[in-house]
Amino acid sequence: MLEIREGVFWTGAIDWNLRMFHGYSIPAGTTYNAYLLRDELPTLIDTVKHYGFPEMLGRIREVIDPREIRYIVSNHTEMDHSGAIDRLLQYCPEAEVVCSPKGAEELRRHYKRDWRLRVVQGGDTLDIGSRRLRFVMTPMVHWPDSMVTYSETDRILFPNDAFGQHYASHERFADEVPAGVVDAQAAKYYGNIVLPYGNQVVKALEAVGGLDIDMIAPSHGLIWRRPEDIARITGLYARWAAHQTDPRVVIVYDTMWHSTEAMARRLYECFTRENVPVVLMSLQATHISDVVTEILRSRMALFGTPILNSRMLPTMAGMLMYLKGLKPKKRLSWTFGSYGWSPIGFKEVEASLKEAGFEPAGEGKYIPFVPDEAELESLADAVAMLKAKLSA
Ligand code: FEO
Repeated sequence: MLEIREGVFWTGAIDWNLRMFHGYSIPAGTTYNAYLLRDELPTLIDTVKHYGFPEMLGRIREVIDPREIRYIVSNHTEMDHSGAIDRLLQYCPEAEVVCSPKGAEELRRHYKRDWRLRVVQGGDTLDIGSRRLRFVMTPMVHWPDSMVTYSETDRILFPNDAFGQHYASHERFADEVPAGVVDAQAAKYYGNIVLPYGNQVVKALEAVGGLDIDMIAPSHGLIWRRPEDIARITGLYARWAAHQTDPRVVIVYDTMWHSTEAMARRLYECFTRENVPVVLMSLQATHISDVVTEILRSRMALFGTPILNSRMLPTMAGMLMYLKGLKPKKRLSWTFGSYGWSPIGFKEVEASLKEAGFEPAGEGKYIPFVPDEAELESLADAVAMLKAKLSA
């Protein structure tokens, strides 16, 4: 039994083995966090993915008889959080499911059930005994239905997906693992889940900014409880939502006959010589979600592909399609690669990057077949130009 604050229990489920979360690689697994508030009207904040139900039920039973539950708050309908509501209601059929107006629509679409719904609006409160819960609407963080629940009594914010990380661990609090580990997981989570919704994150931060928060208990990963950790993660969210970046470069590429790879490596060497922080990522070795984590903090990204059948390689097409959905802003891009008889395929790369929201840093460099030493050396001029753009 884990009591995170007097009368507030973590009753979630840990998935140590999951490695892919709708297309995003999660090498550290994940958790689905549910929180039980033991009070006159016992309340569960969110549930877990369907297969985590037995684990969640066991944890609830360590605290109360599940039949006593009166409210199940569904902050967000996505099935990693609502997937155990139906089975839980078999134990507490009188319980009301508390959700936003959009949440009510989405729960009906997902489960086709006639649950007892209590639809709340932003600013509404719910007294559950000694505690008062307040609901704040945070649409698009991460779905239209999203809301957060704030326990005024405990000063705990339950923000669902926001501030979460896909990180399975014995530890439950962010201060129990090295800050670099949890921050890296939070960054990967933000980059791959929340990045398109920066404007909505800004509004959500404003909405919760007036609350007196002692603890942030998200629906995935570790709980933030120390003031310095809460300040750090909310500060990072503000920075990421504003698309603030460091003067860093990420070079992402794929290659057929090592020509584009030779260009990528020479670019990398030139940036290193110029003391510009740079990372080199081959799509044959790196998952696109890890590239996105680097792009999150980098002001510039270089994309290199050879041309195959007049098109970019499918790996690069997948990368760019993913970025079109994530829509990073205030970032520069530059393109390079090797081609055979026509460079026409690079037009599509350039267009895709513009559509994804990148600003071109300059004309790309495209070399027929195998680059010679003089052509590789000419990349130093490109790097000088890019370095100037990076610090402009
Ligand atoms: Fe963890 Fe948007 O669900």
